[in-house]
Amino acid sequence: MAHDNTFFVSTPIYYPSDKLHIGHTYCTVAADAIARYKRLTGADVMFLTGTDEHGQKIETKANEAGCTPQEFVDHIVEGEGGILDLWKLMNISNDRFIRTTDDYHVEAVQKIFRKMYDKGDIYKGAYKGKYCTPCESFWTESQLVDGKCPDCGRDVHDAEEEAYFFRLSKYADRIQHLLEDTDFLQPRTRVNEMVNNFIKPGLEDLCVSRTSFKWGVPVDFDPGHVVYVWVDALFNYATAMGYCNDKYNDYERYWPATVHFVGKEIVRFHSIIWPAMLMSVEEPLPKHVYGHGWLVIDGGKMSKSKGNVVDPYVLAEKFGVDALRFFLLRTFPFGTDGNFTNELLINTINIDLANKLGNLVSRTTGMIEKYFGGTLPTERENDGIDCDLKTAACELRDRYEAEMEKFQFQNALEEIFKVIERANKYIDETAPWALGKDETKRVRLATVLYNLLETVRICTTLLTPFVPESCEKIFTKIGAGCESCRSWDKANVWGTLCADATVSKGENLFPRIDAEKALAELEALQEAQRKAALPAIELEPYVEEEVDFDTFLKSDFRAVKIKNCETVKKSDKLLKFTLDDGSGVDRTILSGIRQYYAPEDLIGKTAIAILNLPPRKMMGIPSCGMLISAVHKEKGEEKLHLMLIDDSVPAGAKLC
Ligand code: MSP
Repeated sequence: MAHDNTFFVSTPIYYPSDKLHIGHTYCTVAADAIARYKRLTGADVMFLTGTDEHGQKIETKANEAGCTPQEFVDHIVEGEGGILDLWKLMNISNDRFIRTTDDYHVEAVQKIFRKMYDKGDIYKGAYKGKYCTPCESFWTESQLVDGKCPDCGRDVHDAEEEAYFFRLSKYADRIQHLLEDTDFLQPRTRVNEMVNNFIKPGLEDLCVSRTSFKWGVPVDFDPGHVVYVWVDALFNYATAMGYCNDKYNDYERYWPATVHFVGKEIVRFHSIIWPAMLMSVEEPLPKHVYGHGWLVIDGGKMSKSKGNVVDPYVLAEKFGVDALRFFLLRTFPFGTDGNFTNELLINTINIDLANKLGNLVSRTTGMIEKYFGGTLPTERENDGIDCDLKTAACELRDRYEAEMEKFQFQNALEEIFKVIERANKYIDETAPWALGKDETKRVRLATVLYNLLETVRICTTLLTPFVPESCEKIFTKIGAGCESCRSWDKANVWGTLCADATVSKGENLFPRIDAEKALAELEALQEAQRKAALPAIELEPYVEEEVDFDTFLKSDFRAVKIKNCETVKKSDKLLKFTLDDGSGVDRTILSGIRQYYAPEDLIGKTAIAILNLPPRKMMGIPSCGMLISAVHKEKGEEKLHLMLIDDSVPAGAKLC
């Protein structure tokens, strides 16, 4: 059993089916902040993340990409700009990274599956249900929402296969008790949803093997079956510590996990299926599952198909890794959805990092350089006005700790920024620039500046889990070189920094962003990315309804010569064509293709028109028929080609 001072936090293991976006980054940065915070407090931390690499979705994607599933996932996980690169860029301090295709994990899952089978908790049956391929989930009719997958809203299809089942129903009472009577699932608001939607309607046994595809952990005692991807994936948290394998031997030390951070849509798997399986193999349950909210765009989900996926690489490159990390945890309460906008990101950086924190550090160090050549004298002259600042700074650690222990990152940061604001106000109250003009006030001036340095030191210590690189720089600026100055133990002890601390103002840590310019650049970049993600060619939907041959033959398609073509007054769409259709009488057809062609380029060309449509007036001009064009979309943009044919075809020739 893990000892009291261990802390084990995990993110979900991510599907390497696409590049990860800002939503995935959100959870990983949160887990990183809590891991760093716990290390700061002296805990023995295990921070685990990884990738969930099996399943039909990956197999299908690999087929589409023309490679093996293993090659496909290797590229997304380890390739340039892949998942490992992203975590390195974001300064993620995970202690371990698991890939579910790692041999030790595969073998462990096989042992675990057999263990549950031997116990009688897994049995063979036949599965009939509605299957959602992208979510790898079977659903019952009653679970569907408007006939669609309740998780992702996409189409489901009927599926039936011989399969193994896990006796989830057997654990229903124990799971209900776990959810309702303990603090296992957090925040508390997620409990009702689980109990009312999944447990009260009756927990059904869970289908835990598949025969319809191959890319999974084979059931070793029944070839042809692969283990359901969620069983394989959930056990990562234990196998990565060495459960049922010899690769690692940290299970005793770290299990049970302290907390699994997971997004709200996978709370069901983590708070019902996962503890039930652990009960089955008779292992201790994780202490908590925390179901965080989503980052949404305009209130809706980010998705590649909507073209609104926000790329963390772009934001980190533009604003810096720390600014992005800070924004994610400062802006949104962890338990609820947060609406992502570029404006919000820029405002947060400008207000908190540039105006409040950045200013405090540069004003303090700048004044020490200006008035004392960078090194403070050691004499002090205290004043009653200092008490408020000192108390606020010294009490901060406890308030911060209380919020961090509840995973309320936003509130913890709010507490720090209250003290930063208090310090900025203290500068106005004490007016060091006035003290600087008076030779007799030098000791008082040194005291004021030391008080500011101490406040910066305390705030920086507590900010380290959020913006580690910047804090390192601030510590250097304020001369907090020794370990003790940066320690948790001294984060509520006033007077820790050497009295004659030497500072250096150096470069500005968080330069103010020109919001208008940055927004325009970002929007252009994101638009270009959105376009690049769109399909190269998109076709109009095919018409399913048949048209009988006789009806088709009634359409009179003819070759026509374009005698004249001109724009139509007051219309930015229409071109007016005067056509020779072979009948000897000129025909007028109006066509909405002005944006695609200059009229003079079409004169003399041979086109195709359907002639026997009823005449229609447009902008007061009767149009007798329609010119035929080919239309499609390219990278989301409408494309049109007027059907021009060989000029040797005479006017009036019928198309049949
Ligand atoms: N592979 C499973 C997890 C298995 S854990 C044993 C999976 N992977 S995922 O890549 O689809 O999602 C991983 C996590 O990213 C989920 O917790 C999900 O909620 C989170 N996010 C995906 N999009 C998100 C946002 N837009 N916002 C916040 N988190 C979101 O599910």
